[in-house]
Amino acid sequence: MTTQHTPADRTHDISPAAHYDRVTDAWALLLGDDLHYGVFDEAAESLPTATHRLTTLMADAADFHSGDRFLDVGCGVGTSTQWAARQHGLVGVGISTSGHGVARARANAAAAGLSESLTFEIRDGMRNEFADESFDRVWALESSHLMRDRTGLLRECGRVLRRGGRFTLCDIVLAQPITFQLVRSLRAEFGLLSRVFGDARMETLDTYAELAAAAGLEVDLRRDLSAQVRPTFSGWRANGLAHRAEVCALIGVESWQEFMDSCDVLEQMWDREILGYGMLSAIK
Ligand SMILES: C[S@@+](CC[C@H](N)C(=O)[O-])C[C@H]1O[C@@H](n2cnc3c(N)ncnc32)[C@H](O)[C@@H]1O
Repeated sequence: MTTQHTPADRTHDISPAAHYDRVTDAWALLLGDDLHYGVFDEAAESLPTATHRLTTLMADAADFHSGDRFLDVGCGVGTSTQWAARQHGLVGVGISTSGHGVARARANAAAAGLSESLTFEIRDGMRNEFADESFDRVWALESSHLMRDRTGLLRECGRVLRRGGRFTLCDIVLAQPITFQLVRSLRAEFGLLSRVFGDARMETLDTYAELAAAAGLEVDLRRDLSAQVRPTFSGWRANGLAHRAEVCALIGVESWQEFMDSCDVLEQMWDREILGYGMLSAIK
């Protein structure tokens, strides 16, 4: 890391709802309209091509059919929700704890003429309060790391799926179980990541698979996408440099610098095989 941070920089509320209300507009400049990592076939590809590939890989795994009722848990500004609904003829609900994200998702859906088939609601993925067995497809696209009660998340996703329905998840994961000593030695780095990305906790893909099984879901697809995801950080860094002034106006220069620093930290954690990226899909 390259910058000394003042205590004032560390006072942001990093709870996911407050965090996403604060950063969503800046994230659109740094990450793009898809608020998620990219999957690169070649490192030289553009970030939007790679982030869209992740959405399409999720859709392939989700095995949508026209008319499916679809729940997107942690929908960001609804970019992937909208694409999936349009591409596959879904009727959908996107939920997020960020009121700002939900407002942007609603406006985007209205502008795209999708308000009839898509709604966006402020709800918590760990207690979504939808009726049992009310969806054909549920996915959590890079949102589970922000939900502390992972058992609750998986249980809720399983509960609202109909029998034979499918749950799909992708996220940043622990590449392998890590010791308490390693976590302690990386306290500064994990602290930085929490300030930049919100109060996140990562799990191994094995743990997600175990929680899915405990929620009555049968995992039939697992993918390690870590290597293909790694060029994402170069794309974020390039966007950070290209949009420095706008991002600083939105979240401040210290937060911009911390975002840039986090790209280095994430690359190191990827290269040390501490963090990675995975996907799983399961049938009820
Ligand atoms: C990294 S963004 C991913 C957004 C979107 N899935 C995409 O790929 O563009 C994480 C999203 O999860 C949402 N989120 C965080 N905690 C949540 C919770 N407990 N329940 C529902 N959504 C949550 C955030 O507000 C944000 O929209």
